[in-house]
Amino acid sequence: MDFEHKSVMLDEVVAALDVKPDGIYLDCTLGGAGHAKAIGERLDERGLIIGIDQDEDAIAAATENLSDVPCGGGIAHGNFSELDKILNNFGIDKVDGVIFDLGVSSHQIDTAERGFSYMHDAPLDMRMDRRQNLIAYDVINRYDEDRLIKIFREYGEERFSKRIAAAICQARKISPINTTGELVKLLEKNIPHTKNGGHPAKRIFQAIRIEVNGELEILESSIKKAVDRLKIGGRIAIITFHSLEDRIVKETFKSLAQGCICPKNFPVCICNHKPTIKILGKAKTPTLDEINFNSRAKSAKLRVAEKIGERELNRNF
Ligand SMILES: C[S@@+](CC[C@H](N)C(=O)[O-])C[C@H]1O[C@@H](n2cnc3c(N)ncnc32)[C@H](O)[C@@H]1O
Repeated sequence: MDFEHKSVMLDEVVAALDVKPDGIYLDCTLGGAGHAKAIGERLDERGLIIGIDQDEDAIAAATENLSDVPCGGGIAHGNFSELDKILNNFGIDKVDGVIFDLGVSSHQIDTAERGFSYMHDAPLDMRMDRRQNLIAYDVINRYDEDRLIKIFREYGEERFSKRIAAAICQARKISPINTTGELVKLLEKNIPHTKNGGHPAKRIFQAIRIEVNGELEILESSIKKAVDRLKIGGRIAIITFHSLEDRIVKETFKSLAQGCICPKNFPVCICNHKPTIKILGKAKTPTLDEINFNSRAKSAKLRVAEKIGERELNRNF
């Protein structure tokens, strides 16, 4: 199978994880295994790379791509929200590094019949995991108007959410909206073209995709689970592609890196809250060269943190 995807910030991720030849690494968003392979190539036969993806196409491509790495490995078809169960199934307790490269792959976007792209006419699907029942058709044809407005506002940050939701509800009274092409036509009629705003359908497609795949609600808890599974000194690297994801990653890292959370007017600490990570620098963005080579990297942000232990805690507090 052809699986086209250019891995984003590949060198930066490998450097951020400080890959040790005998380490155990977990790739929560395996895709075509671009990042996993770069990590796997730096491991020796004592090392292990574990990959998770909810898309069976990714599993097939990654299995092939990882077939010649020198280390051991394991691949799981599942959601990274289940990373505890997956690591337990592989008999793994703690890992040296975790990568999340969030969102969809170019393969998913460019496979027209998956319905992720507003550039191709296809059935309204947008599932990363084709075993699940909810598809984009259900969101567009079955959600009530208020729910559509909320999704478009929260997940698409779309100014014209009300107008668009009303137009969708009006149109579907006459006949169901079956394809991405029909939806795009309706959006084009209802979202004014702006010079720098990109394609009018972009934000609404993002919102529907996030809803169909439940992308945001599992993120904070999954990051916390991954941090729990890190060895002391282990690293977590997360690449996001839009501000909603990035905000969750930033806030989750901040809360995990925070010490006492008692109200400021408490004379002594009673919460006993201890930081579990330290944040390594600010968010990094791709170089101009990378963006010129791969325009889909444009909005990427990489955040990195390291698990800390008692010794480090005593040094810091
Ligand atoms: C940007 S691509 C990863 C590309 C990969 N890093 C590479 O270099 O080839 C994101 C992948 O994560 C998968 N994915 C997104 N959310 C997921 C989740 N909650 N659980 C499992 N896989 C997920 C998608 O199916 C997609 O294949």
